Amino acid sequence: MKIVWRLGIVLLYPLLIKVPPNTCSLSYTAAVVEYTPIYKSDEQVNIANLNTKHYIKIIEKAVEYSVDILIFPESSLSISNSKNLTVRRSEAASYIPDPQDKIVPCNDANNYPDSLKNISCAALKHKLYIVINHREKFDCVGDNCSDDGLLIYNTNVVFNRNGEVIARYRKYNLFGELDTNRTLEPIISTFETDFGVTFGQIICFDIMFKTPTLNLVHDLGIRDIIFSSHWYSEMPYLYSVQLQASWAFANDINLLSSGYNNPKTASGGSGIYIGRNGYVKIILENKRSNVLFVSEVPKVIDGKRLLNINAERVKIYNFSKSEISTTEPDVYEKYFHLIDDLNPYTTELINTESRLSSYEKTICDRNVCCELKLKFQFHKSTANKSSSNYYRYRAAVFNGTRTFSGFATGGVTVCGIISCINNTLRSCGKIFDQNVYADASTTFQSINISMKNIDSQNNIIMPISIAKNMLPLNVTDFTFQSVNLKNTTTYNMNLQNPRDDLLTFSIYGRNFDLDSLNKTGIDSK
Ligand SMILES: *[C@@H]1O[C@H](CO)[C@@H](O)[C@H](O)[C@H]1NC(C)=O
Ligand SMILES: *[C@@H]1O[C@H](CO)[C@@H](O)[C@H](O)[C@H]1NC(C)=O
Ligand SMILES: *[C@@H]1O[C@H](CO)[C@@H](O)[C@H](O)[C@H]1NC(C)=O
Ligand SMILES: *[C@@H]1O[C@H](CO)[C@@H](O)[C@H](O)[C@H]1NC(C)=O
Ligand SMILES: *[C@@H]1O[C@H](CO)[C@@H](O)[C@H](O)[C@H]1NC(C)=O
Ligand SMILES: *[C@@H]1O[C@H](CO)[C@@H](O)[C@H](O)[C@H]1NC(C)=O
Ligand SMILES: *[C@@H]1O[C@H](CO)[C@@H](O)[C@H](O)[C@H]1NC(C)=O
Ligand SMILES: *[C@@H]1O[C@H](CO)[C@@H](O)[C@H](O)[C@H]1NC(C)=O
Ligand SMILES: *[C@@H]1O[C@H](CO)[C@@H](O)[C@H](O)[C@H]1NC(C)=O
Ligand SMILES: *[C@@H]1O[C@H](CO)[C@@H](O)[C@H](O)[C@H]1NC(C)=O
Ligand SMILES: *[C@@H]1O[C@H](CO)[C@@H](O)[C@H](O)[C@H]1NC(C)=O
Ligand SMILES: *[C@@H]1O[C@H](CO)[C@@H](O)[C@H](O)[C@H]1NC(C)=O
Repeated sequence: MKIVWRLGIVLLYPLLIKVPPNTCSLSYTAAVVEYTPIYKSDEQVNIANLNTKHYIKIIEKAVEYSVDILIFPESSLSISNSKNLTVRRSEAASYIPDPQDKIVPCNDANNYPDSLKNISCAALKHKLYIVINHREKFDCVGDNCSDDGLLIYNTNVVFNRNGEVIARYRKYNLFGELDTNRTLEPIISTFETDFGVTFGQIICFDIMFKTPTLNLVHDLGIRDIIFSSHWYSEMPYLYSVQLQASWAFANDINLLSSGYNNPKTASGGSGIYIGRNGYVKIILENKRSNVLFVSEVPKVIDGKRLLNINAERVKIYNFSKSEISTTEPDVYEKYFHLIDDLNPYTTELINTESRLSSYEKTICDRNVCCELKLKFQFHKSTANKSSSNYYRYRAAVFNGTRTFSGFATGGVTVCGIISCINNTLRSCGKIFDQNVYADASTTFQSINISMKNIDSQNNIIMPISIAKNMLPLNVTDFTFQSVNLKNTTTYNMNLQNPRDDLLTFSIYGRNFDLDSLNKTGIDSK
């Protein structure tokens, strides 16, 4: 009896741990990747193959942490080495199977390049879901075809645990990308998993728009979104991780974000954001890095997350240069971000050096009024009386249309404070280099801001913040509430604890009603 019983244990144990993740569990394990691709080479080598080899290493590392789903960034795999733009357009592109055809590229010897096939094989071998972004070529005929009979898309591809392509999402909001096409209409992509979560996908610039984001969030009730990006960070409001955190918070979404790293263009920033519960961890490196970040993610069940993340299931693996050749130890002292055109904003310098130690004002811009109540204290070190290296603050309010680097225009509604490196407006959004010693600072004891906006289903209003460490505030650091009355919603954002390291603290709305209009100019009040 005893022996049989023991054998039972021995035999059952391996079976138990092989049981697939159960749809009843309260969480799943996700991993995101901050990746620095090889994007050019002096030799005639296949760059996509070089990146594929790195991807396989990252996948094998993720497997050690029993990851259910692994996400790679945008545009960091299938990269062409050609200088000829015509060739470049399609060189590293691949046909991407239609999910309906249930194709496993691993088993299809001839039709797919290694950059698709080997990753399918890795998903199959290691039994995990993998999301990559791959340039797609698609044969076309007829009216809306290109002269060369090819449409080229910026496409996310999802493999299931059998290496089968189960989803394909073609980026709809292109950021320039003149060599890339987009579908006539957005094709929303969602996929189900064996752990009971249905995911939606968006790529980079998509996050700024109504379509497909609101289709996923409002129409389909998706609560877990994959975000692959090659972002160009902007101050004061759209630093990669700042926006990711506030978007995930405002929509209460589990956002799994993987960023293409290149500090020279302020690109990068990855993380796992648990909606209103805040971020688990953000990877934002000011050097060329390759980092795998793994976390347990609580499922949203009947609108609720029933689990606190187990800190022991949060892992960071930092690849060395010998593991992945693009890792570089050199830290960039400068920041290379873009800066929003603040000229059409209504702004006012806040004199934090005054003895009053408070500021109360209502500032309006094109019918949007922003109420600000601030309490602060200014500290100047005596070390260097002549230094002027410290942040100033401005109240900044706006209701209008902006341009995104000339590639699209969109409506924004903004109310709050921003930082500047001197008293001029044109210095706002600039950041002191890391080696500059800032010898004075303002501690905000309290910040209360409030903005009234027309109640609308056609916007996203977010609390947006960033501190000197370039991280957004944690959810315990602020409150954000909306009160709805007679078709008007009032948004309130309050600082919860005193801080001396703020760069931006604002309510930031995307108003889709003003999209595609001309950019608001300085003299259009
Ligand atoms: C893809 O996998 C095959 C078979 O293992 C291997 O021979 C080939 O080198 C791999 N290609 C890349 C780019 O890693
Ligand atoms: C680029 O490649 C295309 C297709 O091979 C060729 O027709 C064209 O002449 C090339 N352009 C240049 C500038 O070399
Ligand atoms: C081509 O595009 C136009 C809109 O740009 C659309 O009206 C038309 O139906 C399309 N034709 C085909 C065959 O899809
Ligand atoms: C697809 O993109 C290429 C490159 O920009 C362009 O020449 C072509 O006209 C586009 N095709 C369509 C149907 O828009
Ligand atoms: C990765 O390692 C480097 C060098 O040790 C370090 O500077 C960096 O902060 C690490 N990154 C993470 C995310 O731990
Ligand atoms: C913001 O500006 C737009 C366009 O001028 C206007 O239609 C809208 O009413 C303004 N918003 C508010 C809340 O007044
Ligand atoms: C004091 O500040 C001035 C102006 O920023 C700077 O030029 C000077 O080097 C600083 N001196 C010291 C000792 O840091
Ligand atoms: C303020 O900063 C801006 C931007 O760095 C710079 O161009 C300008 O010269 C500075 N002005 C003063 C008065 O220091
Ligand atoms: C948010 O919390 C994390 C973990 O405690 C901390 O490392 C990070 O600096 C915080 N962010 C800010 C902006 O304070
Ligand atoms: C609210 O908006 C609706 C639809 O635009 C309108 O019919 C209604 O009269 C408005 N109510 C108030 C109190 O303004
Ligand atoms: C400002 O915010 C703080 C922190 O949430 C809160 O305690 C205080 O009541 C607020 N003050 C006003 C005037 O709303
Ligand atoms: C938008 O800008 C274009 C180009 O500057 C101009 O031709 C057009 O009249 C503008 N439209 C409006 C509504 O102002």
